[in-house]
Amino acid sequence: MIQVNPHYAKLQSSYLFSEIARKVEEYRSAHPDSEIIRLGIGDVTLALPPSITAAFRDAVEEMGSDAGFHGYGPEQGYAFLREAIAEGDFGSRGINIAPDEIFISDGAKCDTGNIQELFATDIRVGVPDPVYPVYVDTNVMAGRTGAYDNGRFEGLSYFVANAENNFIPSPPESGQDTVDLIYLCFPNNPTGATASKEQLAAWVEYAQAHNSLILFDAAYEAYVRDPELPSSIYEIPGAEKVAVEFRSFSKTAGFTGTRCAYTVVPRACTAYDQTGAAVSVRELWNRRHTTKFNGVSYPVQKAAAACFTETGREELRHMTDYYLLNAGLIRTAIESFGYSCVGGVNSPYVWINCRGDSWAFFDRALERAGVVITPGTGFGPAGEGYVRISAFNHRDKVEQALERLTQAFEQ
Ligand code: MLT
Repeated sequence: MIQVNPHYAKLQSSYLFSEIARKVEEYRSAHPDSEIIRLGIGDVTLALPPSITAAFRDAVEEMGSDAGFHGYGPEQGYAFLREAIAEGDFGSRGINIAPDEIFISDGAKCDTGNIQELFATDIRVGVPDPVYPVYVDTNVMAGRTGAYDNGRFEGLSYFVANAENNFIPSPPESGQDTVDLIYLCFPNNPTGATASKEQLAAWVEYAQAHNSLILFDAAYEAYVRDPELPSSIYEIPGAEKVAVEFRSFSKTAGFTGTRCAYTVVPRACTAYDQTGAAVSVRELWNRRHTTKFNGVSYPVQKAAAACFTETGREELRHMTDYYLLNAGLIRTAIESFGYSCVGGVNSPYVWINCRGDSWAFFDRALERAGVVITPGTGFGPAGEGYVRISAFNHRDKVEQALERLTQAFEQ
């Protein structure tokens, strides 16, 4: 008899964004003439910029000739892209990351979800609350948790982010459970909060003191405009020994449909075997990646490499500026309704204190305004009482959504 993985039974009935999609579909069927505006899932809407589209098209053309055809590429990514990233995202900012410490993939969701399989099942995992659900669900699937109870899984440590700590949790204190694997995300999804260098340094220090590993999700780093804020954990001295960083072209360059991301695993980064001997995390990730992944397509990697040309950089800056301006408009409008919020500055997400049930607020925005947002409770119990609005849409849609919400909340 084929038995299923029993840990799947612990998962909540559906992934947050599937549940939202179900509700939106229900609304659409009931109101076929109403135009829905989506400010829920953080999916980009602006076209790929011209120089990136051109690089993509040229690479597709190359593939159409025997001379330019590419079959399997290196699983870890082509050297031209890894070198462009090492210099463009790190070297140019004084951070020393070698091209062979960079692994190209088809998404930060997959990488943040997959990396946990390098580690033992009985380690202690710590996640933020509210949290990007992928970090939690993949550890549940792997059997690292007990049952789901009151919004939380037994066996996980939760780092609560709330108004009291300005949405930046501190590392566990002595007396609290020691955490081996630490998930952090800054600029944060869902709250939009950003951590200072000092705040990140406290986590690096904690990881060094406890031989822990930080999984740092920097998918939104391109939205950081404040030069004092870190856009990489490797700006913190010593982080290369205790942190893996995930980055993506999705929100940075409009690649949500194109698929390209990368994970940085420095050579110095170590985990430990059962005898306590140090093991290279990079070697393990390389082993996993080459076994389970066959690389991102050549045209996509060519398009990603075009992000690092001078023109590409300018185009992407315009793109992220555009979404940041949307975020500012959302924040101003929401504050004018009398709600307090965080994020929307150095981040494309605005996290709003909705002063009540977050699914009820979601329903109200959908029913009265035809606007899709994300209920905070879907990101964990500390998200209850909050909703997230994403700045990823065209300006006219954002403006229209804010007008509709204004009317809805005046009713
Ligand atoms: C979000 O809306 O939280 C993100 O779009 C999800 C993702 O990047 O997978």
